[in-house]
Amino acid sequence: MNSSEQSTSNLAFQWSPAYSVGVDEIDAEHRSLFRLAGRLQKAMLAGAGRGLVEELLAGLIAYTCQHFAHEEDLMRTLGYPGLAAHCRQHEALRARVAVLRQRSAAGEITMTIEILHFLSDWLRVHIADSDRLIGQYQRQLTRCGTALRTPPPR
Ligand SMILES: [Fe+2]
Repeated sequence: MNSSEQSTSNLAFQWSPAYSVGVDEIDAEHRSLFRLAGRLQKAMLAGAGRGLVEELLAGLIAYTCQHFAHEEDLMRTLGYPGLAAHCRQHEALRARVAVLRQRSAAGEITMTIEILHFLSDWLRVHIADSDRLIGQYQRQLTRCGTALRTPPPR
């Protein structure tokens, strides 16, 4: 087992219903993020060339940014009160990944492993702690909307 195998083999990129935030489109995108991260992990474990690893990493990062933009649009549409704080979390991740990626592009392969670990840990915590609240808020709005439309009992 080489060093990148040892460093990434303990990461499991399997989406499970425990990660569901209760918003179908967000859950679908989270599943895709796990899939893309898993693909990158597999490539690294298989000792894929630098070109492929870089390509997969670029795809994962691009999709993450696209997903953040969707989430931010949804929060704006819902009038979500935690929008600013949530966007700051997204921005912090984008900034950190950009720094790690520069080092990865400079040839430090361990940086790719570090990015994978960082993204994996960050996504799990962020989905469980922050994204879940968006789903809760949306359900709350739906319940209130339903309550308003329901005629009072006679
Ligand atoms: Fe988010």
